[in-house]
Amino acid sequence: MPTPTGAEPRLLAAQAAAVVLDQGQSLDADLAQRVAAVENARDRALTRRLVHVLMRDWPAANALVGLLLTRKPARRDRLVHFILALALAELREGREPPRAVVHAAVEAARLGRLRHLSGLVNAVLRNFLRARDEFLAKLPDDPVHRFGYPGWLIERLQDDWPDDWESVLAAGNASPPLWLRVNRRHWTPATAAAALGEAGFECALSRHVPDALRLAHRAAIRRLPGFDAGGLSVQDAAAQLTLEYLRPEPGQRVLDACAAPGGKAAHVLERADVDLTAVDLDAGRLERTAETLGRLGLAASLVLGDAARPEAWWDGRLYDRILIDAPCSATGVIRRHPDIRWLRRSGDIDPLVELQQRMLDALWPLLKPGGILVYVTCSILKAENVRQASRFLELHADARAIEHAHLPGRAQDYGRQILPGDAGMDGFYHVAFERLHAG
Ligand SMILES: C[S@@+](CC[C@H](N)C(=O)[O-])C[C@H]1O[C@@H](n2cnc3c(N)ncnc32)[C@H](O)[C@@H]1O
Repeated sequence: MPTPTGAEPRLLAAQAAAVVLDQGQSLDADLAQRVAAVENARDRALTRRLVHVLMRDWPAANALVGLLLTRKPARRDRLVHFILALALAELREGREPPRAVVHAAVEAARLGRLRHLSGLVNAVLRNFLRARDEFLAKLPDDPVHRFGYPGWLIERLQDDWPDDWESVLAAGNASPPLWLRVNRRHWTPATAAAALGEAGFECALSRHVPDALRLAHRAAIRRLPGFDAGGLSVQDAAAQLTLEYLRPEPGQRVLDACAAPGGKAAHVLERADVDLTAVDLDAGRLERTAETLGRLGLAASLVLGDAARPEAWWDGRLYDRILIDAPCSATGVIRRHPDIRWLRRSGDIDPLVELQQRMLDALWPLLKPGGILVYVTCSILKAENVRQASRFLELHADARAIEHAHLPGRAQDYGRQILPGDAGMDGFYHVAFERLHAG
């Protein structure tokens, strides 16, 4: 049974938001743990939805709390700030009746051992509802408060995408669809779609991405026919597009240099019998790669190592294909991870660009002449994408960027960019370089 007042999801969402916004920690692990303790599936889903609502409306909700609270709560009562901000974000969203939102927030305060502040929560929210328009008029009329992103990121997007930045910000606030990858070793997309349809899961084949199916409605993944047997995986269609750039062929030696948790490595192995080396710097994430491949009955050599220092792990034999799915700002997947916008800082971008450059330069000599290196990010910042590709081509006379005019995405000087929401996909950048034969 869901809790009658909705207090528990509000409390958990406020606590999770505090972890991101006060402690600068990522939402994924924390929220998964909190939600796992909730008995009711609807409350679990509601908790997740509410955290997203607050992440997307944080600047305005936070400013409203500042306007409405005459005195700052004591440090030990800091959670009340997030309970109020969440309720204000919900009231601005307008999905639930205002009385229910106020009641749930008051009960959340009680449940969170803030009984002594439950009267304050009630008074503050009623005060807001009485003079809603006056309070809203006091909010700055700027993109930060309109779209709910930090100013530095908005400025970068305005520079990079002068015609699209508003739709990019709006897409980052929308609910993403659920994309599945069909395991070609198991069945075809058409047979998978038919099985899903028969089991009552409406879905559509992608027009652009050969192995991708888009579910019409959210569903518990484990209930999908074929999931447990390894016939399906969850993966955005833009991530799946990587295979169309890499085009692995049977018998080839393939290096996946930033492999964890193994989504693209699994896709490579589902498509072709290759000799795959999967490298990652993070031991915990490499373990998840083993789990990903194990579930699908696939195998690769897993290597704990630094992609920018191959001398420590490389066996000296050249590769036919190299995939660099680089660590990046993840600004293309904010719709799935709304905390990214608050966790990333403007100062993070230059070090990421520098790391990506070091990986590209260090791994290029490991590619056979005639081989293909694919560089991918889930970023929408040009510094990590097309500018990275231009720099690479300037430095490496034996590299040529391959054109992929038939693939979806916005053509850049080199490579193609998908912006979040384009054909329902996450924001991704892909470029493929061929290594030219000498002379
Ligand atoms: C975008 S994720 C890769 C996602 C993965 N390819 C997939 O499809 O599931 C980037 C990965 O790069 C890894 N990484 C970061 N710095 C690295 C380095 N110097 N060498 C190798 N891997 C690194 C991170 O641990 C992270 O797992």
